[in-house]
Amino acid sequence: MRSSIGVGLIGMGVVGSGVARAITENSTALHSHVGSPLKLIRVAVRDTSKQREFMVSQNILGDNPEELINDESVNIVVELMGGEHPALELILAAVKNGKHVVTANKEVISKHGSEIFSLARENNVRVLFEASVGGGIPIISPLMRDLVANDIKSIKAIINGTTNYILTRMANEQADYQQVLQEAQELGYAESDPTSDVEGIDAAYKLSILSTLAFRASVKDTDIFTEGITSLTDKDFSYAKELGYSIKLLAIATRTDSSVLGRVHPALIPKEQMLAKVDDALNAVEVETDLLDKVLFHGPGAGSMPTSSAVVADIVNIARTIAGGTDLLDPVRLSDEIEIRSIDTLITKYYFRLEAEDQPGVLARIAAVLGDCGISISSFIQKGLGDQSTNAELVIMTHEASESSVTRAVSSLRGLEVVRMIGNVIRVVE
Ligand SMILES: NC(=O)c1ccc[n+]([C@@H]2O[C@H](COP(=O)([O-])OP(=O)(O)OC[C@H]3O[C@@H](n4cnc5c(N)ncnc54)[C@H](OP(=O)(O)O)[C@@H]3O)[C@@H](O)[C@H]2O)c1
Repeated sequence: MRSSIGVGLIGMGVVGSGVARAITENSTALHSHVGSPLKLIRVAVRDTSKQREFMVSQNILGDNPEELINDESVNIVVELMGGEHPALELILAAVKNGKHVVTANKEVISKHGSEIFSLARENNVRVLFEASVGGGIPIISPLMRDLVANDIKSIKAIINGTTNYILTRMANEQADYQQVLQEAQELGYAESDPTSDVEGIDAAYKLSILSTLAFRASVKDTDIFTEGITSLTDKDFSYAKELGYSIKLLAIATRTDSSVLGRVHPALIPKEQMLAKVDDALNAVEVETDLLDKVLFHGPGAGSMPTSSAVVADIVNIARTIAGGTDLLDPVRLSDEIEIRSIDTLITKYYFRLEAEDQPGVLARIAAVLGDCGISISSFIQKGLGDQSTNAELVIMTHEASESSVTRAVSSLRGLEVVRMIGNVIRVVE
């Protein structure tokens, strides 16, 4: 038996503190899982004088991650600093030094996954990243191993807790986006700069990782069509409810033959569907396959302890193979035969909310514009906007139409003098 397996930790914030605590306080249980003791050799942070959730001995605390990467007694480097740089360079340097790596960094894996995986293969080390998507929910490992016999057709997911929390409150309280965002920031559910969450960027990083694993193809964040939640209003929630739908920020990847379409956008989903019931900061990933039909992974997508659970599991998996002297299976072999499809090829149903003059014949003119673009109406709601207004609000639900025809229709409707404003156009996912 090895005397111990050395762990070096870069970052001891929300997740790193939980990981340091678990390695230190659960050492006996981890020893028995691994077969050798796990030892925290070094921890690198920015500010060594900071008071932390969990404190480690000053002897192992430093502010130079390079030292940790070059320390011969460190077998596993755990990167929990976040951000693209210098996290990427540190991961690459660790791999070149023959260290295994565990990371929760969705941005680095999304943008640089294929480079990291092939360097890891060359150096005969492993890079595991279970916590990068869905926090504590096991989803990466099932995609890499447990679902390997399946042909995965699609992934449909709620993978950003901040936006799901905001949308849940908007739906339940008929509240305004700005007001809910501000309260979410005060409660610590949203960052002071919420751009990455509310514009769908964070969800696109995560969807690119899931798609890469599900379809065994390099799908980058830039391959994902991304639209955030900032245009949603309390009116959209009210109409969605009336029509029997919930509104969620969905991350969807679909494989057709040899192409993949990845998209993150707000969507109307029938309220009886499982994903429609995933509320607050929870996450869920629905995977549709040929053998299993649909399987749903659901749980806390962030937070210190849930995320640490996934990071420590990766550390234990690597440590077991080091202790047993066996090779960890190479889980990420990518094919380059998959093409990325543009959002223009999407065919789905749509919800239009617009304001138009409240006069006879207006609906017929709008329907004619839609018809000219090949879009047919399945139902509509018309409401007056009060005694003083000469306008009415129209909500139109369409039959299936192509994204490119909807883009054309929106532009034509903007040019129609009876249309005062296009409030929103939201894709429907059934
Ligand atoms: N928070 C979650 O719930 C969650 C969930 C899933 C995945 N993740 C991912 O986990 C990673 C860590 O997130 P977090 O929330 O724990 O972040 P965090 O609380 O901001 O902690 C970051 C840590 O990294 C350290 N650090 C930053 N730059 C450094 C540098 N140049 N050199 C040395 N140390 C440096 C910081 O040091 P100081 O403490 O001295 O400033 C801090 O301890 C990110 O990739 C994130 O996306 C987080």
